Amino acid sequence: MDQMNKSEVLILAIETSCDETAASVVKNGREVLSNVIYTQIALHTQFGGVVPEIASRKHIEKINQVIEQALKEAEVTLQDISAVAVTHGPGLVGALLVGVAEAKAISFATGIPLVGVHHISGHISANYIEHKELEPPFVCLVASGGHSHLVVVKDYGRYEIIGRTRDDAAGEAFDKVARAIGLGYPGGPKIDRLSREGNPDAILFPRAKVAENEYDFSFSGLKSSVLNYLNNCRMKGEEVNQADVAASFQKAVVDVLVEHSLHAVKTFGYDKFAIAGGVASNSSLRAAFEQECAKRGITFYYPSPVYCTDNAAMIGAAGYYEYMRGVRHGYDLNAVPNLPL
Ligand code: KG4
Ligand code: ZN
Repeated sequence: MDQMNKSEVLILAIETSCDETAASVVKNGREVLSNVIYTQIALHTQFGGVVPEIASRKHIEKINQVIEQALKEAEVTLQDISAVAVTHGPGLVGALLVGVAEAKAISFATGIPLVGVHHISGHISANYIEHKELEPPFVCLVASGGHSHLVVVKDYGRYEIIGRTRDDAAGEAFDKVARAIGLGYPGGPKIDRLSREGNPDAILFPRAKVAENEYDFSFSGLKSSVLNYLNNCRMKGEEVNQADVAASFQKAVVDVLVEHSLHAVKTFGYDKFAIAGGVASNSSLRAAFEQECAKRGITFYYPSPVYCTDNAAMIGAAGYYEYMRGVRHGYDLNAVPNLPL
């Protein structure tokens, strides 16, 4: 791209925190020029979940290929790139290290600045890609395989966590329940699909409240309740209606996420609300938020499914705002599995 306007900031973004090897080129924080994702899901399905050692090895095999493709699809070369942004936490340490080492090598070889990005900041920033008008402040629910956070986005890259899960993340609950009813990994999309054929009011599963913080979540009791229900059915020799269990479980999760989130939006006095993370692609969750936000005059934002689950475009969006406020990392940048937001 010879005519590349130098006032344009192009971020090459890399994401390897879990089981997706991803690279993307993002222009001025909001325009995705390429978004390449090599998903390892098929590789991990046979084990019923992500095997960290296998994930790291696959990342190292695929990372160069994925980056080359991202540059090619964006029709740019490394000379056009303003900064390399990489997820440096949280996530699986061996998986993160592949992306971090790769980004450092590119930065060292070319002199392009290095910017480390928080994975959750990436998920939240996915909302900026398709909603050009969205600006902080707003409230965001981040629900993924590893996190369930209610966050006030005070400014770009500035967050205040107001609620979090006390035990399982929402996506983790989807994955565990899916395994228990024999649907396999990853559970979220499978429960989402099967729920359409089930009755969400067939079984009343618990909606947990956490006494100490009204914005916190707890999903392990719900998961145990589903497992108990399945055991009871088996002991009594009753046939389990998988679709009813899936739909009833999903409704219990959605009810809690919606109630806590909209309570926070109201109490903290915001009029914009966004969702992010893999669970944000759940069709029932999106429909429930759409309806409840409309009733309350809250503008509701959500990313397309491809920007909800792990991808590098979201890291490019978050990385742009970090880069613009002068964040630069040194060659001692490390992977931090429990990096705080
Ligand atoms: O954000 P993500 O790709 O990875 C993490 O950072 O954890 O989220 C993956 C999680 C998995 O637990 C998966 O089951 C869940 O998101 N998920 C869904 C749906 N699609 C993915 N959960 C519910 N409904 C979906 N449609
Ligand atoms: Zn994620």
